[in-house]
Amino acid sequence: METAYERLERCYSSVRRRISFKPRVALVLGSGLGDYAEEINIEEVLDYREIDGFPVSTVSGHRGRFVFGYIGKVPVVAMQGRVHYYEGYSMEEVVLPVRLMKRMGAEILILTNAAGGINENFTPGDFMIIKDQITTFVPSPLIGPNMDELGPRFCDMSHVYDSKLQAIVKAAARDHEIPVKEGVYIQLTGPEFETPATIRMCRAIGVDAVGMSTGCEATAANHAGMKICGISCISNMGAGMSEGELSNEEVYETTERVAACFKRLITESIIRMAEEY
Ligand code: HPA
Repeated sequence: METAYERLERCYSSVRRRISFKPRVALVLGSGLGDYAEEINIEEVLDYREIDGFPVSTVSGHRGRFVFGYIGKVPVVAMQGRVHYYEGYSMEEVVLPVRLMKRMGAEILILTNAAGGINENFTPGDFMIIKDQITTFVPSPLIGPNMDELGPRFCDMSHVYDSKLQAIVKAAARDHEIPVKEGVYIQLTGPEFETPATIRMCRAIGVDAVGMSTGCEATAANHAGMKICGISCISNMGAGMSEGELSNEEVYETTERVAACFKRLITESIIRMAEEY
């Protein structure tokens, strides 16, 4: 049977048969944030479907392609659409795209998502720089034979989100007068939104924002030695914190409303990251 590493290499060979582009920064665009790809000076595009061995997303609103190109002078690869654990993929499959972008040459990984606000000082439309994460409620993507080619069996998780990258995003936000919050992100499996009791539990254990992605990707990227930055767009308050029901429509309405600010923040951050790293 094919090992996870062999599958990764199969995907990599498949990419390299079509694309020679070498990215420095990898970007994962979360729900409603995929339009950021319009900011990229596009060189090449590759649909996930065209990659031999790649897990393909089933969620509507997730486009499912890699976009290769430049932000300023910085070579980037962006994922327009990610795969989620709740779609039924294994954790190993969910993190394959991030490992693949590292294999393509990316050293810096920017993970973005839409998330539910748990911190009572947050409001929908806020951006939150992820300082740390809790993934205790989802399986680790590192379970199974260790991929020694990528990283160690027992990897340190003391500094998953790079402090210098956090400082760069904060400075970029300040200079462009974009307010940003900071906090701890928790990944839950979804696909259902949380109950109010789950939201209270999350607050009690020190969580600021909740989502259904990102944590496992950061774990796998940390294992592989990437420098990681995480930015959540608070698309709604957690269940029980506001009137009305939670819906995917609300998530998309909010991300659309703040899209211009998000674009400015990400572009400015990428340019500074490439200069300062
Ligand atoms: N919960 C989980 N994931 C989310 C939410 C939420 O409230 N909003 C956007 N993604």
